[in-house]
Amino acid sequence: MPYPYPERTARPRRYLMCRPTYFTVDYAINPWMDPAQPTDTALAVRQWERLRALYERLGHTVELIEPLPGLPDMVYTANGATVLGGRALVATFRHPERAAESDAHQTWFEAAGYRDVRRAEHVNEGEGDHLVVGRRLLAGTGFRTDPAAHAEARALFGVQVLSLTLVDPRFYHLDTALAVLSDDQVMYYPEAFTPDSQALLRSLYPDAVLAEREDAEVFGLNAVSDGRRVLLPEAAKSLAARLADEGFEPVPVDVSELLKGGGGPKCCTLELRPA
Ligand code: ARG
Repeated sequence: MPYPYPERTARPRRYLMCRPTYFTVDYAINPWMDPAQPTDTALAVRQWERLRALYERLGHTVELIEPLPGLPDMVYTANGATVLGGRALVATFRHPERAAESDAHQTWFEAAGYRDVRRAEHVNEGEGDHLVVGRRLLAGTGFRTDPAAHAEARALFGVQVLSLTLVDPRFYHLDTALAVLSDDQVMYYPEAFTPDSQALLRSLYPDAVLAEREDAEVFGLNAVSDGRRVLLPEAAKSLAARLADEGFEPVPVDVSELLKGGGGPKCCTLELRPA
């Protein structure tokens, strides 16, 4: 992007979060999870509370879904649905360990009065693999979400949906490899994608911020932007510096405990986009 950058503008957001009351790692469905490593639920809750308070301090609204015992991954609400134009496409999880989260989300969206609440027919892990960039939906596949789910999203939301294929099991959801910074800007880690998907990304976002391996490996791309402020794991130091160079305001957050489940700030945050 040529200097001077356009002024970055924050837009107030509405997010759905779930307190990690029952957080632990007692199964492994991604390479970050190691059930042999101890977890500290109280610490996870403190880190999560700070994240929630930070959103509120930045002027955003946080809604909560009740955590359920036996669903330790429920803290990663990004996977529960994709919400656009007041419509919710509720997730259908790849792994049986998370399957019951779908009902919880379905119930929440129905009670909250969303005009169209639909359960995905194909495996679809919500915003983990569906990222809204302006009028476009980037949809990941390769590890979790079925490519057939992308067509389902297109039919329900009536937006352009572009499929991207992931190749590195450590970056198993699109939101671990790419983050939306504004309505027309993204950052991503090219090596997480097939050559075709890299080419597509280059053509769509020639000025994108490209992350280095060190930043991707500390989950730096699992970031949440309100258009100006970008919350990202504090270990992603050089990525934060790059964002600042581009006129964004990096906000480092400590989510060390939640990383043990293979999730960062973005995974804990589902954006509720109104009609
Ligand atoms: N343990 C969870 C899983 O593997 C982590 C989900 C992270 N969420 C995300 N949006 N990437 O399903």
